Amino acid sequence: MSRILVTGGAGYIGSHTIVELLSAGYEVVSVDNYSNSTPAVYEGIEKICGKKPLIAEEDCCDKASMSKQFEQYGHVDAVIHFAAGKAVGESVEQPLRYYRNNLNSLLTVLALMEEFGVGKLVFSSSCTVYGQAQSLPVTEESPLLPATSPYGNTKQICEEIIRDTVAATAIKAISLRYFNPIGAHPSAMIGELPRGTPQNLVPFITQTAAGIRPQLQVFGNDYRTPDGSCIRDYIYVVDLAKAHVAAVERMLQGLQKSSYEIFNLGTGTGRSVLELIKAFEQVTGKPLPYQITGRRAGDIEQIWADPSKANQALKWKADTPLQTILQSAWEWQLMIPHYHNLHPFARKTVAADGLSG
Ligand code: NAD
Ligand code: WQD
Repeated sequence: MSRILVTGGAGYIGSHTIVELLSAGYEVVSVDNYSNSTPAVYEGIEKICGKKPLIAEEDCCDKASMSKQFEQYGHVDAVIHFAAGKAVGESVEQPLRYYRNNLNSLLTVLALMEEFGVGKLVFSSSCTVYGQAQSLPVTEESPLLPATSPYGNTKQICEEIIRDTVAATAIKAISLRYFNPIGAHPSAMIGELPRGTPQNLVPFITQTAAGIRPQLQVFGNDYRTPDGSCIRDYIYVVDLAKAHVAAVERMLQGLQKSSYEIFNLGTGTGRSVLELIKAFEQVTGKPLPYQITGRRAGDIEQIWADPSKANQALKWKADTPLQTILQSAWEWQLMIPHYHNLHPFARKTVAADGLSG
């Protein structure tokens, strides 16, 4: 049985990936410092899979502690590195925190992989590295534009750190550039728990539908898109999680075409904000209150992926229908209040936002 070390395993994408890894028969060690999550997520994973990963509470930037995990868990076949801060606005306000955490956690993991002879890394990158591409859809060959936030810059720098490390060591790597992950596991046992007021569209939509927010603000309807609202490539988090298993398998089977590969993970279809609202209204059967407001600073107009490289190489496709994805997001939203009893983190963050927990 292959053993995979997952950093940031208690987070949104990490937890869904652990479910897919355990279901595929992998042994998983999950390392997280719970800076943006809670260990209660492992109970959800156990309910889904009938088993938990091996669990360690550590800061990935702490080399001495992480070294003990590498020692304790002996041989690890691959590392999937999710652990990072991910809030764009927060990274603008606290750039040093983002550079310190996102770069140091990767540097620490790479150093320990080299030290302990672990040769395979899967890294969480982001479509943010493309900025507003001149031509759509974006392929992996599309130029990377200067990052518009410290967060985005950390992803570009991390990709460069990996490229240089792979060139100089025995480590091989795959960077996965996620487009916009949404939705939750169909069991509604795990999902995204946004801190405070959600910045991302779908958690804001579901909180509005649940009556937690009075209305959604649509950030602009004067873009050069068919309905004037921004376009993104929304990918189901479970499809995304499955791509990680495919990436690990590609590495373990020695199928990589080069020591460092990069894949876009998207659906290949761009959807507008207004389209998403309409699709969500169909799921709940009631209108979603929204208001068109001004553009959000830093937003790009439109982007979607050309995922054909991942489709072919990983034998993977993100094909869950949008309605199913939004249904899962809604079911998860309805589950969150029940989850609060188990989940002090969620209660605390919702309360911090002045809302009832
Ligand atoms: P998340 O915040 O839910 O998960 C990240 C996890 O990492 C959290 O559990 C957090 O507690 C943990 N963590 C952070 N720093 C750590 C550290 N130093 N040591 C140990 N644990 C640490 O975020 P997510 O949405 O699951 O994102 C996972 C990865 O995917 C991140 O690298 C993120 O940048 C990337 N990504 C996310 C999105 C998105 O929209 N969610 C899109 C593209 C890329
Ligand atoms: C989607 C669309 C908004 C909220 C972010 C990061 C990116 C990546 C994915 C990590 C946009 C509109 C949103 C709202 C709205 N993460 N919107 N009202 O900005 O595409 O990407 O998450 O790597 O780096 O920047 O996602 O969900 O915030 O926004 O109208 O209340 O929804 O303008 O067009 P975004 P998002």
